[in-house]
Amino acid sequence: PSPSDPWRPVAHLTAGKNWLNDPNGLVYHDGIYHAFYQYNPHGNSWGNMSWGHSTSKDLVHWEQQPVAMEASPEEEIFSGCIVMDTNNASGLGSAENPPMVALYTSAYGKNGALPQGAQAQSIAYSLDSGATWQKYQGNPVLNLAPTNNNFRDPKVTWYEPGRYWVMTTVVADAQVVKMFKSTDLLRWEFLSDFSGVGAQGGLWEVPELVQMDVEGSTARKWVMLLSINPGGIAGGSGMQYFVGEFDGTRFTPENAAAADAPLEESQWLDHGADYYAANSISGAPGDKPVLLGWMGNWDYAQDVPTTPWRGSMAVPRELTLVRGGKRFELRSAIAGAAKETLERSGEVKSKNLTVGSSLQDLGPDFAARSQLIELEMDLASANEAGLILRRSSDGNAGHRISYAPETRTVRVDRSQAGTSNFSEKFSPFHEVKLQSSGNDRAVRLTILLDASSVEVFIGSGEAVISDTFFPEWDNTGSSAFSTEGDTDFLVTSRTL
Ligand code: FRU
Repeated sequence: PSPSDPWRPVAHLTAGKNWLNDPNGLVYHDGIYHAFYQYNPHGNSWGNMSWGHSTSKDLVHWEQQPVAMEASPEEEIFSGCIVMDTNNASGLGSAENPPMVALYTSAYGKNGALPQGAQAQSIAYSLDSGATWQKYQGNPVLNLAPTNNNFRDPKVTWYEPGRYWVMTTVVADAQVVKMFKSTDLLRWEFLSDFSGVGAQGGLWEVPELVQMDVEGSTARKWVMLLSINPGGIAGGSGMQYFVGEFDGTRFTPENAAAADAPLEESQWLDHGADYYAANSISGAPGDKPVLLGWMGNWDYAQDVPTTPWRGSMAVPRELTLVRGGKRFELRSAIAGAAKETLERSGEVKSKNLTVGSSLQDLGPDFAARSQLIELEMDLASANEAGLILRRSSDGNAGHRISYAPETRTVRVDRSQAGTSNFSEKFSPFHEVKLQSSGNDRAVRLTILLDASSVEVFIGSGEAVISDTFFPEWDNTGSSAFSTEGDTDFLVTSRTL
């Protein structure tokens, strides 16, 4: 970042210029992470949807590559996925050089294969490790009859017991996930629908079915990740999940919230306003899903004041599935590779302090535009405590992260953190109520602050709050505060 580009993150994927939204085609191949994404090569707002491309070795530093697939008057390239067709089952490559296969949504324009406005699933393939892409001659490979205008977002996973690929898609405005199977990625057969539980919201988008180990047991479960917009827990776009069984045909959730239940009863991947359309990275090392999400919200993403770029990805995170009190739950952490990279990037500064009913500046060591903070707080007698980041020297502006033990609530407040007049829908604060840990006066937070975003991983990862905000360049202070009593702080920080 610089005073002329003050909100450019240093540890997140952005495009050099122009608009981006959903990550697409996330794949790890030959030691390189590939992220393709919804990208407008010609402007700084949504349109001309194409697949941009960036690569990384460490999930923190990304190198932008040429646009992989560009919109044409006939079709825009909406969200989708990539898998390695290792056995060349599609026949699009060869045994020696198996193809990388992309499944994407064709959003048809004039003179396309389907009527204007229709959406269907298509294929493209690469024989040079993702550098260049050819569209398959027989596109689209999957269409609904009658033709549908909201049939999109294919994500494919390998189903070993049946030895076939399973694709999840949505009919977005009908709030239904549709599943299909294929052995060659070209011919798809309908399996089942999933609908009618959890938060319904407006559109259902970008679904994914992942199989996960249950931590501390030999059991495995299937998890359905689902983006909804609007109707998310923090307003506008949000991501919920369901845990259950998949028998090769049907996904059956367990203990899912009813469709008419309060939003809090659904399970959410994030309680902030800016986490959407996350999918896992196909073939990523390790046995946990590694997700990349878009740090945006359709309520205001097109209005945020960054230029010449707009849109950032969230930090990659890895998921763990645990048996909670009432049901299975996901835990989120910054993905291992990303965490190691971040921990290498700056000198460690650590400070122990007790703050009593006041506010204490943490001093120049903790002043930063971007930093990774590990925070431990023990609110001995205080009723609220936390940090103010990106604070102005007069104390009037700052981004506030706090915890209140009585209600076990973590709150992230961006209302005084910077410019917000670009949209009336830029919600002021977000919060999450934690389950009791036995010692509710103590809390641990991992905070990734990066120029125009903050991602707060809470406790053992039981909740995350991801929010964008747009602070003044000069505001770099960090303070600790405690209200109506004492709080012990241990703050460890690395400037990024
Ligand atoms: C989700 C989404 C997808 C669609 C893409 C278009 O953010 O609306 O459903 O494929 O973005 O850019």
